[in-house]
This record gives sequence, structure tokens and C-alpha cells, in this order.
Amino acid sequence: MIQFIFAKEMGNPSSFEGRHPNYKYMKNNKYTVTAALPYANGPLHLGHVAGVYLPADVFVRFLRMKKEDVVFVCASDEHGAAITLRAKKESTTPQEIVDKYHQINKKAFVDFGIGFDIYSRTSNPIHHQTASDYFKVLNDKGSFTKKTTEQYYDEDFKQFLADRYISGKCPNCSNDGAYGDQCEKCGTALSPMDLINPISTLSGKTPIKRETTHWFLPMDQHEEWLRPWIKEGILDGKQQHDPKTWRNQVNGQCMSWIDGGLHARAMTRDLDWGVKVPVEGADGKVLYVWLDAPIGYISATKEWAAKNNKNWKDYWTGDSKLIHFIGKDNIVFHAIIFPILLKEHGEFNLPYNVPAYEFLNLEGDKFSTSRNWAVWLHEYMAENPDKIDELKYVLTSIAPESKDAEFTWKEFQARINNELADILGNFVNRAVVLTHKYFDANVPNRGELTDVDKDVIAQMAEFPAKIEGLIRKYKIREAQSEAMNFARLGNKYLAETEPWKLAKTDMERVETIMNIALQITANLTIVFAPFLPEKAKTIAFFLNCGTLDWDLAGSVDILAASHALDSNKPSILVSKIEDPFVEAQVAKLEASKLEKAAEDKAAQPIQHPVQKAETTFDDFMKMDIRVGEILEAEKVKKSDKLLKMLVDTGLDKRTIVSGIAEHFTPEDVIGKKVSVLMNLAPRKIRGVVSEGMILIAENSVGELSFLSPEETTFNPGSDIS
Ligand code: 2FM
Ligand code: ZN
Repeated sequence: MIQFIFAKEMGNPSSFEGRHPNYKYMKNNKYTVTAALPYANGPLHLGHVAGVYLPADVFVRFLRMKKEDVVFVCASDEHGAAITLRAKKESTTPQEIVDKYHQINKKAFVDFGIGFDIYSRTSNPIHHQTASDYFKVLNDKGSFTKKTTEQYYDEDFKQFLADRYISGKCPNCSNDGAYGDQCEKCGTALSPMDLINPISTLSGKTPIKRETTHWFLPMDQHEEWLRPWIKEGILDGKQQHDPKTWRNQVNGQCMSWIDGGLHARAMTRDLDWGVKVPVEGADGKVLYVWLDAPIGYISATKEWAAKNNKNWKDYWTGDSKLIHFIGKDNIVFHAIIFPILLKEHGEFNLPYNVPAYEFLNLEGDKFSTSRNWAVWLHEYMAENPDKIDELKYVLTSIAPESKDAEFTWKEFQARINNELADILGNFVNRAVVLTHKYFDANVPNRGELTDVDKDVIAQMAEFPAKIEGLIRKYKIREAQSEAMNFARLGNKYLAETEPWKLAKTDMERVETIMNIALQITANLTIVFAPFLPEKAKTIAFFLNCGTLDWDLAGSVDILAASHALDSNKPSILVSKIEDPFVEAQVAKLEASKLEKAAEDKAAQPIQHPVQKAETTFDDFMKMDIRVGEILEAEKVKKSDKLLKMLVDTGLDKRTIVSGIAEHFTPEDVIGKKVSVLMNLAPRKIRGVVSEGMILIAENSVGELSFLSPEETTFNPGSDIS
């Protein structure tokens, strides 16, 4: 039996390549993996992470373990109305907004361990140059048509309205808050003219139409090649990609867009923030952000290549595979518009796949920046720097791959405690602790195999290919679940063989069992490495085995007999999440939502109700208003709002019912002197006859106050009118 010792002092295990029985010679493929450039207009939340950045990172980590030649690029998307509108809202400049959020998001990615080769910015000169050159190439080729058309215009702000500057009802799903470029609810890409009842998001008014000139991409001229390319993966008569690995929703959205008829789309905007349109007669115009942003993938690759002595074109031409990880609202931009731009340019590869994710919800509601209903990545990292892989595990477990999914703190706890800790953590800790206990931390010999052993060894051999197959089909969630099944197999093996019982009678058998258990543990460092890189490192540390190649996975000969594990007692691999942690997180979420609502309310201009129609002095004098004193008070049964009070009016003691119970308790009001409208006709409210009305003031934030005489000498019965 061939055995390998991959102890750290033996050097890099990859030096064994070609000798291991499972090792197959692999050609180094090139991959350019991109993750959607997040707008630098706000922090990242867990929805972004679960539905783009984490799966992309897992995919890339796996490819690297397979020794593929990968570049993983991303950047801040710093142009477009998303930025300028945010600047306006925060009363600052677009530059300050992008500087602020670029830093926050870049740091959050680093802290969370998203391993981009480069995290660039679309405001970098290299990007402006690249995007500008790209536009010129297409313009020179005649890929655009220059047209003067009527566009919406806000007369108050003296600005044309495109994209997020205009909103209205979506013609597809009737969502009232659709933008001029897209409905975020149904994902449909729109033009301002598609919106029903459009209004300017600047002034809130209905815009007028005014003529302006723009460069349009005549997408209708590209239908013919787009159909077979998306549906069958055929481009220029060749198989360019495998359509079976494209997600249904990507195919579906693209085909419904194409079937609905493609139209010319403006690629320039009347704005002063962005990449200037690099042709004559285009003063005051910039590139459309959805033209400029995907070119950001190219500029980021260039920037990375220049710093790393690589040729960026190697990653955008030839047999390099371009893979875009995105959210579902970005599908048409990556699977139709950018491919048209790439094909028109002529030098670059088209996407090989566009794995798009559905949306993640949070505790029963959509993630919402405006309502502060979110778990922010940078905040999570600041508060829980020791729970990075725990979060990765949960987010991958619930990743919205084929349908919208939901994050709850309860599930966070359950997944970590019942799976990560009880299955993976428990198995690894048992295997390592028992080896310390029985064999002084040395890998024991594997002797004669029983049927149970043979069965486990056979099952072990199958996991890596299964996991690999799933990752290569972008089924990251299922792939992680298979890795966990591998750990389950380990637990089951120990539970069935019970080495702790045999230790009293048959130490030779225990040696074999623990050898196999340790080989499974070594396998787990490999198969979990793409998903949980930190935990994988910790397991490798316990085993003292260094980094192991993916191609060793499945083998039962990773650790040689008598190889020494780390001599220290292993720490707990995964700590459980206690209830108070979950309660605190939920409370924090609720509190931040309330705080935001209060802030918003306070920030709103005070809106006093309009003055009522004029009344006459005679009519006013008909009202009999006097000072009354509340003697008794109680809540009206089965009502949250009503208080029943006994009021001394000087004339009598009468019952008055008032809708103030949500603002005052009975104890609050007893003894208060108030103004009473005496001669209001009695009314029955919830079965109680109310004989008058207590006058109350309400301020702009809905607080109530009685109208009371300041002087104590104003006794019940004092006339107010
Ligand atoms: O939707 C968004 O957040 C965009 N900023 C994504 C851009 S992806 C790419 F094209 F750059
Ligand atoms: Zn819609």
C-alpha cells in the first residue's frame, strides 16, 4: 500500500503530483471569474454576499485547488445615478460617496476573506481610458446609431431624466417604484418611455419631453445570433458554452426579453458624472453606466496583470473562460447587452456562463437599505471576527440559487449548532482527541479491513468527484451539502465501530479504525477548503499536514502511519451559538429599523393639516367648553384605543370616552385638568355613552397633549369659551 506523509517539514504535498494513484494530469485552463461590481453607494449586506460574492469565491477557491489559472476580479461601480442620487440625499459630492463606500466595502471583502485578485474602482484612470477606448472602437466600427429623440426632462432641475432619475409603474409587473432602466421587483430592464405615469425622482413632478442626441446600441440587429448562442451555446457555428449548465432563470429572462423584441438602447447619458463620451459633439454627456461598468471587468484585469507581470489579454481571449457571478437583476446586462458589446468589439471572448442568483430575504422581509432592514457585512465582521466560516457555511447552505431564500438568526443558530458543530466539528474533534488519547498523537497503522471499513473507503472515494461535479455546475449549495455528508460518513463510521469501547479489548482494531477516521479528517480539510477556508486550515493544523491538493481527496492514504499530529490538544473547531446571541441579533435588527423610521419621520418637513373652512363667531359661541378634572379612568374592554373616564365638569360628573389609550395609561390621566366640550351630542362608543369630548393637541410626530389651564386655581367648571 502506498502511503504519503504530508507533514509540513516534508514540503509542499504538490511535489507528489503524478505519483498519487488518484492524481490525473490536468491541463491548466484559464478562467476569468467576475463578481458584479457593487455600487459604491452603500455598504454590502448579507443578501449581496450570499447571492454573488461568496459563491464566486467558493468557485474560485475550488479552481485554484485544481491548479487552474484563474483571475478573480471585482471593483466598485462608481458611476451612474445610484451614486449621484445618494450624494444628493446625503448632501455631499459623488466623489465623497464613492470614496467612503469603496473603502468600507473593500475592507469588508478582505475581512470576510473574499479572495479577489483585484478589487478596483471604475473611477480609476485606467478604467476611464479603457472604457473610453472601447467606446471609440465601437463608434468607429459603426456599432452605434446616433439619434435625436425626445427624452423626459425635469424643468425644475434642468436635467434629462434617465435610469434612477425617473420612476413609475412597471409595465410588466405593475410595481409602482420601477426605475427608468429597470424594475427591481421583477428584474425587467426598462427604458424611461416604458414607465406608466413617470415622475422625476428629483422634483417629484411629471416630467416634460425634450429633444436630445444620444448614441444607441441597435440591439434588434443582434437577435439572430443571440438566440442560438443563449439557447444552444452556438456562436459563429462553434460550441462556445454548454447551455445545460446555464441556469433556467438566465435562459428564461433572456429569451423572454428577446421574444418581446429587442430595441435600440441609449449608451450615453446627459450627466456630468461618469466616463466622458470620447467623441466630438458630446459635451455634457457620459457613457451609460451599464456600458461602462462591465468594461470595468476588463480594466480591473488590466490593472491586476500590470501589477503581476501577466498579459491581461490571455484572460479575455483564446480558450479562457469568462464567468460572471451576478444577482438576477443583472441578467440582461450580462447575458445580452455586454455580450453584444463584446461581440461588436471583436477581440474578446463572450461569457462562458452567467451564474445568476435570486434574492435573499431577511427575517420574513426584503433586505432594505432605506428601511435599515439588513445585516451589514462590515458590522457583522466588526462584531464577530471569530465567526467568519460560520457565516459562510450558513449563507452557502441557504444560497438563493434557484429561488429566493431567507436568512433568519434562528436558522443561523440551527445550521451552526446542528450541522457545523454537531457533524463536522464533532467528528474532527473526536478523531483528533482519540488519536491523542490512544496513540500519543501519532497516526496508527491500518491493519486488516472489515466490511464496514471497506464500505467506508469505497464511499470516501466517491465524494470528491461528486462535489467537483456540482461546483463545476455552479451548484455550490449542493456541493457544500455533499461535503457535509462526507463528515456525516465519518461520524457514522465512528458511531458504528465505537473505538472507545474496543480500546479496552482490541487495540489493533482501534488502530485501523482511527487510521481510517484520520484519513477521513484529512479528506475533510480538502473538500471543505473552498467553502470554509479557515476551518480547513484549522483541521490541517490539528493534523499537522499542511495544505493538501484537491486531487488527493478520496484517498485513504493521505496520512502515513506514525505521522505525528500537532502535539497540542485540539481546540474546539466550532463553538455553538447560544440563544442570547440570537436574541441580541434580532433585537438589534428591530431596533435599527425603528430608529431609522423615527429618523425619517423627524427628517420629514412638518406637515400641518390645511385650515378648515371658515366658521362664524355665532357658530363658535354655540360650543360650551369648560375645565374638567378626570377623576377615574379605565380602558374600554376589547379595545386598544379607548379610555373611559369619569370627569368632574363643575356641573356634574360625567362619562367621556376618548381614543387616547395608546398614548396614556389610566394612571397618567387621573387627576389631570383638561378642556371639555360639554354640549357635544352624546354618542355610544363600544356600548358606552360618551357625554362630551376632551380637547387634545397633536404634534407632527403624532404625540398628544391635553389642553390644560396653567393655573391650579382654575377649578372644574371654569368657562373656556
Ligand atoms: O447592480 C449593481 O449593483 C451594479 N453595480 C452591478 C454592475 S455589474 C457590472 F456590470 F459591472
Ligand atoms: Zn416589474
